[in-house]
Amino acid sequence: MSAPTLYQPYAHFVKQANLRGLEDYQAISQWAQENSADFWAFQANRLLSWQRPFATALNDSQAPFFKWFEEGQLNASFNCLDRHVLAGRGGKTALIFEADNGQVKKLTYTQLLAKTCQIANALKQLGVEKGDRVIIYLSVSIEAIASMLACARIGAIHSVIFGGFSTTSVYDRIVDMQAKLIITADVQMRGGKPTKLKAIVDEALLLGPCPSVKHVLTVERTSDTTSYQAGRDVTFKEWVEPQKDQCDPVWVDSEHPLFLLYTSGSTGKPKGIQHATAGYLLHAALTTDWTFDYKPSDIIWTTADIGWITGHTYALYGPLCLGSTQMIFEGIPTYPHSGRFWEIIQRHKVSVFYTAPTAIRSLIKLNESNLDEHPKNYDLSSLRLIACAGEPINPAAWEWFYQHVGGGRCPLLDTFWQTETGGQVLTPLPGVTPLVAGSCTLPFPGIDACVVDETGAEVPHGVAGLLVIKKPWPALARTIWGDAERYKNSYFPDNLGGTYYLAGDGAVRDPATGYFTITGRIDDVLNVSGHRMGTMEVESALVSCTDWVAEAAVVGRPDETTGEAICAFVVLKGARPEPQEAERIAKLLRDHVGKMIGPIAKPKDIRFGDNLPKTRSGKIMRRLLRSIAREEPITQDISTLENPAILQQFQTLRT
Ligand code: WT7
Repeated sequence: MSAPTLYQPYAHFVKQANLRGLEDYQAISQWAQENSADFWAFQANRLLSWQRPFATALNDSQAPFFKWFEEGQLNASFNCLDRHVLAGRGGKTALIFEADNGQVKKLTYTQLLAKTCQIANALKQLGVEKGDRVIIYLSVSIEAIASMLACARIGAIHSVIFGGFSTTSVYDRIVDMQAKLIITADVQMRGGKPTKLKAIVDEALLLGPCPSVKHVLTVERTSDTTSYQAGRDVTFKEWVEPQKDQCDPVWVDSEHPLFLLYTSGSTGKPKGIQHATAGYLLHAALTTDWTFDYKPSDIIWTTADIGWITGHTYALYGPLCLGSTQMIFEGIPTYPHSGRFWEIIQRHKVSVFYTAPTAIRSLIKLNESNLDEHPKNYDLSSLRLIACAGEPINPAAWEWFYQHVGGGRCPLLDTFWQTETGGQVLTPLPGVTPLVAGSCTLPFPGIDACVVDETGAEVPHGVAGLLVIKKPWPALARTIWGDAERYKNSYFPDNLGGTYYLAGDGAVRDPATGYFTITGRIDDVLNVSGHRMGTMEVESALVSCTDWVAEAAVVGRPDETTGEAICAFVVLKGARPEPQEAERIAKLLRDHVGKMIGPIAKPKDIRFGDNLPKTRSGKIMRRLLRSIAREEPITQDISTLENPAILQQFQTLRT
């Protein structure tokens, strides 16, 4: 890589920032490092409204099952809504919603509170109680956000499922969390295409017994033929609209679970990451305040779907907790044209724009080949800060984003974090941290990150190792729903001493600046367009196609647009197909995976062979598959390989 460009902090930021330069950052980080409990307690009192004050910041007596802010009681929806209304800011716009078809709807804080209360009252009437799990299977919408806040209002635990997941994924999550109620819509619209969400829920509920589910509550957008099962299925029209628009918040303990969010790990079964109310909300608010250098006049647009953690933390909880105005968008960046993002920024005067590197990479291609849709044709002068997350951003994409979208004047923040960390953990702060393309720079104050070897010993800067966080922080996920053992083993492994949080990514620090660069996952987790996907999940989906598939192995390979692409090696039950037949079977397999997990999991490449490359002891030689997937010459030792001829088969038969 060529020498990175160093961008100095910006004068206007240095003046206005909530933090005023590297000295402030260093002083605050040192305070947080030396007296972490004090630091977090101070921030918790500064940023959250408490019904009952907490007694202690951290209880680490049962590490790694940490507890924060014990004795304290609060309500997340009160913090995100009522307190702004009570302070006289109820007339401020909370949400600007733009639908796929361009229709715009705005809601003030007072209106969002009313809507939240109506849904909360409906949930109560439908038998949902504190601690019950509610699935929200909706696309980005006012209803989705109000439903999340409604759950929080009555102490129910929400779990949003991304609308791109399909039947089996929905079923698995229903069963794992024993959901009591599902909120969905008849259709979601993305890119002009409808997806019948309610029909997918209906199918999921038929896959096996789901006795926990008492009701399905549906947002009706069309008057089409959606079928409703009497007794079980109810609609917003009948159950939400007639409700009164007041509902007392249920005060919950700091540690009360706010939500579960399922994410992929290195085994086949996605894990339900559980976040606690106070700690999560605090980090969401604090990072929004400092990373986005929050100003009350901001219009924050986080483009992530509400079904991912980025949507939770930076389209909802962080900004609403601070009383900001959010842009939310139902559609996709390329519909009806690839200038849609720039058009939205211009139309709604977005000031903070937070997106994914994949979106930027795909727009570079399209915008550069159709200059009418290029950002230079739009007025993006409202932007003051741009940021990205979810996957590495390559320096070329960084430069384009910085120059063409940020106009060379907005700081571009590459933020690293995970579903499990609740909010940003490695990130530049505007006006504070000099920026470098390709680095997420330094830890957020209070995050004790470093790079260690397999024994937990810190490695020198310049040497790659494992990214760990040595001390607990409030937004750390509390457990994996129903599987505390897996939580401990995955994130606090004994070989690192049992108290370091293991992120699952490799990292290296710059010898001169100490800046972190993420080198990628160290486990069998792929990152496709910023979406986390376990190779084993895709393998299980493929082999569940029992009519055709005998065996399958999945690896990742680099992809120019999506970061990584899924590459599947498949052994069929019958003979290895001829090229034309291979195309047909590959389509069938892709559709099958699409139905089992969701379209995002469809393998880009499918290769067929008579067997998988295995050692004589029967172990699949994945490193060979990785070389084939990357179309690299095979230089590895293949002397232990049972059947070397099949390498050639996989190299040639590809769809
Ligand atoms: C994984 C977490 C950012 C929250 C949304 C994704 C990768 C995330 C970066 C970045 C390089 C990144 C890591 C991480 N990742 N941000 N700035 N640079 N890699 O949350 O779905 O839990 O995925 O995304 O591999 O472990 P997630």
